[in-house]
Amino acid sequence: MSEQVRPEQRAREQALVEQVVASFDHAENARLTELMQALTRHLHAFLREVRLTEGEWNAAIEFLTAAGHITDDKRQEFILLSDVLGASMQTIAINNEASVNATEATVVGPFFVERSPEVPLGGDISGGAAGQPCWVEGRVTGTDGEPVPGARVEVWECDEDGFYDVQYGDDRTAARGHLFTDDDGHYRFWGLTPVPYPIPHDGPVGALLEAVGRSPLRAAHLHFKVDAPGKRTLVTHVFVRGDDFLTRDAVFGVRDSLIVDFVQHAVGVPTPDGRHLGERSWAGARFDIVLQPRSV
Ligand code: BEZ
Ligand code: FE
Repeated sequence: MSEQVRPEQRAREQALVEQVVASFDHAENARLTELMQALTRHLHAFLREVRLTEGEWNAAIEFLTAAGHITDDKRQEFILLSDVLGASMQTIAINNEASVNATEATVVGPFFVERSPEVPLGGDISGGAAGQPCWVEGRVTGTDGEPVPGARVEVWECDEDGFYDVQYGDDRTAARGHLFTDDDGHYRFWGLTPVPYPIPHDGPVGALLEAVGRSPLRAAHLHFKVDAPGKRTLVTHVFVRGDDFLTRDAVFGVRDSLIVDFVQHAVGVPTPDGRHLGERSWAGARFDIVLQPRSV
């Protein structure tokens, strides 16, 4: 709190904090009391530390109102706000305490959809989306090192123009799909080499990023959601080593352990499955995934 605040003023402000905190003493569950009282203390500490002006309070209300207006069943500006504040990643970090060797989790993002096409092992999830073909393979194991057969590996990504299928608004399904690991926990599929792309930035969150000189771009990535019986569901990404945005991802989603080599192969270099790509180059990446037991 500012040194300038006189003791009588400080006491008045503190009395208000205590009054609001006490108002939550009798919530119907103890956890709600804990959450609301801590929120009150931190919120008031913030207001008092920065000596918030009434104009700034108004601007904040207008910002939240705009976030509400742009939010609908397809666009969720509040999650985007949580993402750019690092609140989503912090919540994920708290709830996925690093275990020895388990693959780290990261944000789900707004472009996951419940139903995606199933492709066979080695199949192509691109669905006609534009981009450089990319062979992705890996193995799913438990933290005990045992392979996880039959794990459902769901992947989704943007096309080379930086758009997910759902952003085109024409009901197409592309650059997403799911497949199941084989008896030895292996998976493999054709996707697209990931490229950096912006988070939706035509709303209040985009305006905030612009005002503070931050880029809306995300480091190039491919999303994964992996489910298997007895294992904790993992939502994560794989990132491209050498990508320019690894250190300034708009939503702080990058973890070193999730960065892998995407090896470039020139036109004519044989593909792992003998697929003929004609005059196209391709890339290849390996991403092994370690799942925690469900009880953790
Ligand atoms: C994404 O990776 O798709 C994403 C994640 C958070 C916010 C916006 C987009
Ligand atoms: Fe994404």
